[in-house]
Amino acid sequence: MTDAWWKSAVVYQIYPRSFADSDGDGMGDLRGVIQHLDHLAGLGVDVLWLSPIYPSPQDDNGYDISDYQDVDPLFGSLSDFDELLAAAHERGMKLIMDLVVNHSSDEHPWFVESCSSLSSPKRDWYWWRPARDGMEPGTPGAEPNNWGSVFGGPAWEWDPATGEYYLHLFSRKQPDLNWENPAVRSAVHEMMRWWLDRGVDGFRMDVINFISKVPGLPDGTVTGAAYGDGSASFLNGPRIHEFLHEMYEQVFAGRDALLTVGEMPGVTVEQARLYTDPAREEVDMVFQFDHVWADRGPDPWVLQRLKLTDLKAIFGRWQAGLADVGWNSLYWNNHDQPRVVSRYGDDGDFRVESAKMLGAVLHLHRGTPYVYQGEEIGMTNYPFGGIGDFRDIEALGQYAQAVEKEGHAPEDVLTVLRARGRDNARTPMQWDDSPHAGFTTGTPWLPANPRYPEINAARARKDPDSVYHWYRGLIELRHTEPAVVHGDFTMLLPHDEQLYAYTRRLDSTELLVIGNFGGTPARAELPDPAAWDRAELVMNNTAQPPADWVLGPWQAVIYRRTVTP
Ligand code: NOJ
Repeated sequence: MTDAWWKSAVVYQIYPRSFADSDGDGMGDLRGVIQHLDHLAGLGVDVLWLSPIYPSPQDDNGYDISDYQDVDPLFGSLSDFDELLAAAHERGMKLIMDLVVNHSSDEHPWFVESCSSLSSPKRDWYWWRPARDGMEPGTPGAEPNNWGSVFGGPAWEWDPATGEYYLHLFSRKQPDLNWENPAVRSAVHEMMRWWLDRGVDGFRMDVINFISKVPGLPDGTVTGAAYGDGSASFLNGPRIHEFLHEMYEQVFAGRDALLTVGEMPGVTVEQARLYTDPAREEVDMVFQFDHVWADRGPDPWVLQRLKLTDLKAIFGRWQAGLADVGWNSLYWNNHDQPRVVSRYGDDGDFRVESAKMLGAVLHLHRGTPYVYQGEEIGMTNYPFGGIGDFRDIEALGQYAQAVEKEGHAPEDVLTVLRARGRDNARTPMQWDDSPHAGFTTGTPWLPANPRYPEINAARARKDPDSVYHWYRGLIELRHTEPAVVHGDFTMLLPHDEQLYAYTRRLDSTELLVIGNFGGTPARAELPDPAAWDRAELVMNNTAQPPADWVLGPWQAVIYRRTVTP
């Protein structure tokens, strides 16, 4: 990957079904995105990432694709897409697509053909296996191995017509593609080239570290949950680096100015160094999960509070690990995560301050920041009631498994889903204070968060003290201050449970970032406070600068000073 323009870029993720509805059917669409491009250009972002817009039965909101080379009529047409791409490019923004090729939809013609008979030429495009030895096919426990699916239930679905099971790590409508088969790989490469030829600027690759499986598909570890954990056989599997390098050669080599980011649950720093080392020609950066799993305890159905020292240890490890080779992505939010201001901040009295503090602490790390729709206005979690309020296949599937199969108390499971469920991120984007937050003139597929009269983009753009203008400032700082992009990183106060502090240094410029992760004042015990006496206060999210290094509730400050190199 020749040019690393993405080191100074900020990416904005659009989840099209919840972004903006132009035709009143309650579902966001591409023309809705076109109508709001100025909001994004005004924020200053460099790249848009579109979650899947392809034809899909929408079992997992489009992460189940039945045609990789078209647009679902729900979202518009290919010509709407071309118009969006041109309009983004005109405003100086690039656009990357979501690439979902660990699995397809069960309604994709490839899978339909694969199902048609044991001798179908596409049979081997997916993972088909007979029942466990000595078991009656189709009966409970006869699945080829003990793996559970991410969305609850077994990872296998029985096909009575051909008498075998197919593997689906996600829903039964998301059969896993068999990347061992070279024909599968070349079909994927061809499809990717088709999008690049159309003008797109790269891909975000869905669970891409799941594509190489240990072909024997052995039983997974038994954890006490209803099913075994097969991840040792598919996370960062034996041929993953080979597959990604081959993809690079077949698709990306010789093309300039692209961005590739691999979503990689469970990836370690050591593995990420390999994935993102430019010399290895795999991907530009990965999405790791350690910092969004930092508040997950051993029991998934018990909420655990974040310990700030854990979060700092995680970021510190990733910053150090990718300092000399590779590159970090930086994110708090996406369509799978709860709203960060409700999770790691305070979405009550200090919503604005804490949203700004979280933005500053994240964006000033070394790496490429990602902003998820609504984060830039400090959108909050939704007040979900019962399980009937959720639409997400993961929430519904995991609830059923936890309550019906594992005997967890429904209220315990709901407590966790309310705090962590993915639908928190998927409520409509809050544009203004008109009905349904200005998202649709119809009935939204998921209700708007009732806080939209207070929290909306129109209001935020008018208010110079809003979260929106703070994010705009952070993005501008990245674009104008090379130390934000290239500076080295030093964590300070690693043992402090309330303050997050670090420096960034490039040549004669040093930046100091301090964020207060609490609603009470706290004093930063800096190693050399006098050095910062005459420093410039570049950004501050409260009216007063800190006196004697005491930061107010949820305060964030960014200082800059000149040092002798
Ligand atoms: C990760 C995506 O971000 C998530 O939304 C989806 O459910 C799974 N991969 C399966 O595609």
